[in-house]
Amino acid sequence: MEIAKDSDELRQRLKSVRGDGTVAFVPTMGNLHEGHLSLVRQGLTMAEHVVVSIFVNPLQFSPTEDLDAYPRTLEQDLELLTAEGVALVFTPGVEDLYPAGLEAHTKVTVPGLTDVLCGSKRVGHFDGVTTVVCKLLNLVAADIALFGEKDLQQLLVIRKMVADLRIPVRIESVPTQRNADGLALSSRNNYLTSEALGLAPALYRNLIAASDAIQGGARDYEGLCSGVIQRLNTLGFVSEYCEARRCSDLLPAQEDDTNIAIFCAASLEGTRLIDNIVIEHY
Ligand code: PAJ
Repeated sequence: MEIAKDSDELRQRLKSVRGDGTVAFVPTMGNLHEGHLSLVRQGLTMAEHVVVSIFVNPLQFSPTEDLDAYPRTLEQDLELLTAEGVALVFTPGVEDLYPAGLEAHTKVTVPGLTDVLCGSKRVGHFDGVTTVVCKLLNLVAADIALFGEKDLQQLLVIRKMVADLRIPVRIESVPTQRNADGLALSSRNNYLTSEALGLAPALYRNLIAASDAIQGGARDYEGLCSGVIQRLNTLGFVSEYCEARRCSDLLPAQEDDTNIAIFCAASLEGTRLIDNIVIEHY
């Protein structure tokens, strides 16, 4: 496996990788777990070579968020990626991607989809995501790029950016990987104490219960979602939002919408967890 520590090395090393077949690209912030590895594995079924980036992107963290504390485990990540058969890993520094600093950098903004859910709670977050993903897509110039359904809003925002800016890459999504207890795998789970890890699966359990009710004919989305919030708060979560929205445009779900998702964000011990469940019903 080759490692490129900056954009120039990436350009050099990509020549041999690209010359020799199709490329799938998996952008990450590292501290890799089975969720990330499922993207790599799916990439390997779709293209000859997989390129992974590991970059904790400061532009998508607000000053009050966990940028400094975000887990960085590069050695372990490289071992995992070697074992998966990844061709090339890109590990740029902040000064390589933002040479003139964060403030001075051109920003990519996707309107609409970023005004709601995590976008309204983490102001500027999605601009940071789309700016870095646009740049990484330009640098790697892969045939395919893979993103997880765990971050469904992020996936929809990136799809729109790629369509609007006509970025020549195919976006593929990968289902959320979970622990046996249902908790969605996330690097932030590392912050949780064992007590909180015992409570955390309640987030997805409640989403399943709401989804089952909708499959069974319930349409009082607001009532179902406020029930989820109440139950989570009773358990000790601090809920941020729980909302049923259309997958197409993230507008609030209406009774006759057939492809909707429930999105939820809630904190445990100050650690912010997000999850979602897609519900197709007719
Ligand atoms: P990160 O949180 O490291 O996630 C990298 C990719 O892995 C994203 O596409 C995310 O949706 C996916 N992923 C994370 N947990 C997953 C799980 N349990 N199951 C399936 N996929 C999962 O998301 C980011 O990084 C950043 O915002 C990034 C896109 C790299 C831009 O900085």
